[in-house]
Amino acid sequence: MNGKYTFSIIKPDAVRTGKTGPILAMINEAGFEITAMKMVRMTLDQAESFYAVHKGKPFYEILVEFMTSGPVFVMILRHENAVEEFRRLIGATDPNKAEPGTIRKLFAVSVQMNAVHGSDSDENAEREANFFFSTFERF
Ligand code: RTP
Ligand code: MG
Repeated sequence: MNGKYTFSIIKPDAVRTGKTGPILAMINEAGFEITAMKMVRMTLDQAESFYAVHKGKPFYEILVEFMTSGPVFVMILRHENAVEEFRRLIGATDPNKAEPGTIRKLFAVSVQMNAVHGSDSDENAEREANFFFSTFERF
């Protein structure tokens, strides 16, 4: 993906509590272009597969349960140095450690219900984007 794309999820807690609009506004205002987006409810199989890298960690089961608890918005975002820039915009995993003004500082409820996902490498951005989107769904 040449560093220009990242993949994001607006997680069930944020969707459920009406934070989708404000989060999308912040993403746009930070200069990210949405090149694919849809609302999905992940199946257990999908969530287990998406988070397979965390299998065996103490939070894995709760994470999978949480991510299947309601609909989410999945999206591909375009920006120079997208992965790093987007992780800067969302802030630390734990909202208590997130910088002021970041999406997680503003909208996360806990380390688990932390409002958004952002890919952590170009390789994972590619894998995660392909997990949810066909080439016909990208713009
Ligand atoms: P994400 O993948 O969602 O962008 O978050 P991240 O890179 O900042 O964090 P990661 O280590 O990849 O963890 C994935 C998600 O698992 C939940 N988590 N809970 N200590 C805990 O209870 C714990 N640690 C991680 C969070 O929902 C985190 O976003
Ligand atoms: Mg991660």
